[in-house]
Amino acid sequence: MTQPSGIDSNSPSALTVHVDLAERSYDIQICSNQLGAVGSSITDWLDNRLGTQTGQRKALIVTDRNVAAHANVVVHSLAEAGWNAELVKLEPGEKTKSLPVISGLYERMVEMNADRRTVVVAVGGGVIGDAAGFLAATYNRGVPFVQVPTTLLSDVDSSVGGKVGVNLAAAKNLIGSFYQPLGVFIDTSVLTTLPDRDYRSGLAEVVKYGVILDAEFFEFLEQNVAGINSREPSVLRHMIARSCQLKADVVKEDEYERTGLRAVLNYGHTFAHAFEALAGYGELLHGEAVAIGMLYASRLAEKRGLIDAELTARQKNLLEQIGSVIVLPDPSAYSVDQILSKMRLDKKTVGGELRFVLPTKLGNVTTFADVPEFDVSAVITECAAA
Ligand SMILES: NC(=O)c1ccc[n+]([C@@H]2O[C@H](COP(=O)([O-])OP(=O)(O)OC[C@H]3O[C@@H](n4cnc5c(N)ncnc54)[C@H](O)[C@@H]3O)[C@@H](O)[C@H]2O)c1
Ligand SMILES: [Zn+2]
Repeated sequence: MTQPSGIDSNSPSALTVHVDLAERSYDIQICSNQLGAVGSSITDWLDNRLGTQTGQRKALIVTDRNVAAHANVVVHSLAEAGWNAELVKLEPGEKTKSLPVISGLYERMVEMNADRRTVVVAVGGGVIGDAAGFLAATYNRGVPFVQVPTTLLSDVDSSVGGKVGVNLAAAKNLIGSFYQPLGVFIDTSVLTTLPDRDYRSGLAEVVKYGVILDAEFFEFLEQNVAGINSREPSVLRHMIARSCQLKADVVKEDEYERTGLRAVLNYGHTFAHAFEALAGYGELLHGEAVAIGMLYASRLAEKRGLIDAELTARQKNLLEQIGSVIVLPDPSAYSVDQILSKMRLDKKTVGGELRFVLPTKLGNVTTFADVPEFDVSAVITECAAA
């Protein structure tokens, strides 16, 4: 993490995470109360990538109605920097990640005479980032893309790694691509309007990074519970920057999810995906399911003799202190068999064989394909009774 070049003049505390992906490399700028400077960052990013050109720069800002106030700041900032910036407000929610919505956005791009230098800017959570990213990846075989994430989940997860896409009725995220942005601009002040439940849900992925990759970061979280809960800007900046750096380091080794290295990011997710599917999408937020799933996976690691009970207890304590959901709302609603069969359907399963990412110590995980099903069943039963 370093100080950024574009916005450091009045923010000594702003941070930059460099995502190192050969010619697709880009920077994530993390600051507070500087959204008004986003226009000059985007200008620099575009000129550095495509060279300076005469003529007016153009951008389509894609947002949802809940974050339109933040998107307006981005529009004004670009206008001040001399851009022609158009705004499109979509409906909030997962349904927006769909081909008909993308089709409407293609039309909008045609109407504004978009060309290879027209930048698509996503201002929103993971839904807007995934949808606008897919638009940028496919319009005219790819136009420049910038993310301005507004949820904690999109700060630390969906805006790092280049996955963009939309849902089909058959499955979530079935249509998509890997497409890296020109840059990502994170201003922690936009999180002040984020509903508590969404904030807590995003925190689960933050805790995950500590468990899987960085014991020191996990300790930082334990020591900064008050700052996390009050959304203290300096705590947020460090927490977000470290999370982005950790994910970026993994993505760099396995950009296209081919070698299996990226799988470490799935800690807690084999259980979580089953819980989400059984609860009905939207009932249990993704991060809520991940928090619960991590505790199940950690119990499974205990059962396999990989860790002792203290490591599970530390995760549980931290999650509890930061207000995460740590048990299923109604554990008796699903049988062990229902959970197991949903896990077998997970797209990350290989040939129906269950794979688990399990901790071996704080800051380290390994993927196991040989976990006996009776251990998994026992953990499901025990956790439901706890
Ligand atoms: N591309 C990836 O690698 C990746 C990774 C994880 C998740 N995702 C995707 O991300 C999506 C979930 O993202 P999400 O959790 O950010 O959900 P989201 O985009 O639906 O945002 C959650 C809610 O918060 C509102 N909101 C967003 N920012 C706000 C703010 N600052 N103030 C007030 N309200 C705000 C939104 O309008 C929405 O109602 C899913 O579609 C998931 O598939 C993608
Ligand atoms: Zn996740």
